[in-house]
Amino acid sequence: MTRLVETAVEVREFVAACRKRGGSIGFVPTMGAFHEGHLSLMRQAARQNDAVVVSIFVNPIQFAAGEDYDRYPRRLEKDTRMADSEGVDLIFFPSVAEMYPKGFDSYVDQTDLPSKLCGSFRPGHFRGVMTIVTKLFNIVKPDTAYFGQKDYQQYLILRRTAVDLNLDVDVRVLPTVREEDGLAMSSRNFYLGPKQRKDATCLHEALECAAKLVDGGENSAARVAAEMRRLIRKVKGTRVEYIEIVNSETLEPVKEVKGRTLIALAVRIGKARLIDNLIV
Ligand code: PAJ
Repeated sequence: MTRLVETAVEVREFVAACRKRGGSIGFVPTMGAFHEGHLSLMRQAARQNDAVVVSIFVNPIQFAAGEDYDRYPRRLEKDTRMADSEGVDLIFFPSVAEMYPKGFDSYVDQTDLPSKLCGSFRPGHFRGVMTIVTKLFNIVKPDTAYFGQKDYQQYLILRRTAVDLNLDVDVRVLPTVREEDGLAMSSRNFYLGPKQRKDATCLHEALECAAKLVDGGENSAARVAAEMRRLIRKVKGTRVEYIEIVNSETLEPVKEVKGRTLIALAVRIGKARLIDNLIV
């Protein structure tokens, strides 16, 4: 049975007991409203570790004013059942006061990677992510932490944080899990109405088209991006935030697609801001 705790002290007790038996710990940080993408991370963590800890915390400091913090889906009971069926041992479900008690005033930041892609549209977002994940790493002290490629920039930034701050945790990335029609699973897909849900497949279709062009020998990043933009513009009610073709390690824009290249995009449909990416 999955145990649910709300305090850092209880997490530390659980982890200490596990360590005493020589067990390894896999950790999956989340904001809840689980879908198959989250579950794939838990499954891998269970396969590779003796114990799995999952955190569920809608982290207020990674949302800017006017973003979806208040309406972000919260469904703890269902999440607990789903985590239980993946063999999760412990869910850490802290309150905001537990993570940010009165007087809290220390943050983790980076200068380079967070200024790119999503970072330029969501100022302060990655600072909030780095801060909460560093705190969670310090509480859970996992051997390995699992992240999804859907949020590839987040993974790169957190890998950098772990190295730079000697956090002694192996930060791993797992493939994006998709719906049958290709839409990347996301808790934010819940915001889509039926028509918007259909339209949302254009992100994946644009990425597939890009991959095909590159496969066929097209190496001009500008031409690939232009074709993606054209495809998405055809779908009424979509607003492209960015389409970028960048080096998959530095996130610097490339002119020519060669070597490991990340093609990433963010598109607004109605109230939802959707992101997706592909590495070619
Ligand atoms: P959340 O959006 O809940 O995502 C939790 C983890 O699930 C992240 O590593 C994310 O990349 C992964 N994930 C989401 N959709 C996925 C999909 N379709 N396939 C595979 N993995 C997927 O990301 C966050 O929460 C927060 O920023 C957090 C890291 C918890 C810090 O607050």
